[in-house]
Amino acid sequence: MPSAIYPSLAGKRVVVTGGASGIGAALVAGFARQGAETIFVDILDPEAKDLIAGLADAAIAPKFHHLDLRDLKAVEDFFRAMGPIDILVNNAASDDRHTLEDITPDYWDDRIAVNLRHMLFAAKAAAPGMIGRGGGAIINFGSLSWHLGLADLTLYEIAKAGIEGLTRSLARELGPDNVRVTCIIPGNVKTERQMRWYTPEGEKEIVAQQALKTRILPEHVASLALFLASDDGRMCTSHNYWIDAGWR
Ligand SMILES: NC(=O)c1ccc[n+]([C@@H]2O[C@H](COP(=O)([O-])OP(=O)(O)OC[C@H]3O[C@@H](n4cnc5c(N)ncnc54)[C@H](O)[C@@H]3O)[C@@H](O)[C@H]2O)c1
Repeated sequence: MPSAIYPSLAGKRVVVTGGASGIGAALVAGFARQGAETIFVDILDPEAKDLIAGLADAAIAPKFHHLDLRDLKAVEDFFRAMGPIDILVNNAASDDRHTLEDITPDYWDDRIAVNLRHMLFAAKAAAPGMIGRGGGAIINFGSLSWHLGLADLTLYEIAKAGIEGLTRSLARELGPDNVRVTCIIPGNVKTERQMRWYTPEGEKEIVAQQALKTRILPEHVASLALFLASDDGRMCTSHNYWIDAGWR
């Protein structure tokens, strides 16, 4: 089925965090297909190289920068070197499982750094350039997990709950300058990494909880992000946009 093309995305400067794999890779492919100048950061260099090779026919070839988002000085330097952008997709995260017993102050700092902190500092670095270009869009990735209260993900769920507050607050602060801030809440999306946690029986259980009886794929999520980033989504800000196939 052909996907929508949004004329307003052509030539836009986009940064996708965590773009080398999973949903991020579908976001990079999606923005590249729209003719956007797509820049992505990640720590997975071989995956990034493969992704770029697979997008060789894009009007503007996507560019990759190795960046560990836990390093805030490196985040600041990256955005300064990048210059003004129009769209920021705060996608990177890490849903490593842990129990209460595993949590130490250092592990707290690390998990909040990888799942929450960089989103604020990336937005802070990108916002002035967006304002200078007349507006922009920041899309944060939340998660259904904490709404469901899933087990063994306490720090991830704390971070994901915080991202919704971050979205509301930044949307209020940046709205007068025409910068929109939204939050995508995916349900269970079938990525390579997710398949580490799920057996075929587990996948059946996921589908059983959904109203729609099909697995959500990364490209489904990318379609929503493209709409929110485009001018077609121009009156969308400050809220959550769920893509969970109707999880009960
Ligand atoms: N897949 C799902 O079912 C699901 C469900 C709910 C929410 N989400 C959210 O959607 C987003 C994408 O999910 P995904 O499943 O593709 O995740 P993923 O773990 O497969 O990919 C995340 C990407 O972020 C990168 N990353 C991790 N730590 C990094 C760091 N320190 N610096 C730079 N990059 C780093 C990873 O290398 C990876 O490429 C995440 O925010 C996730 O929390 C996913």
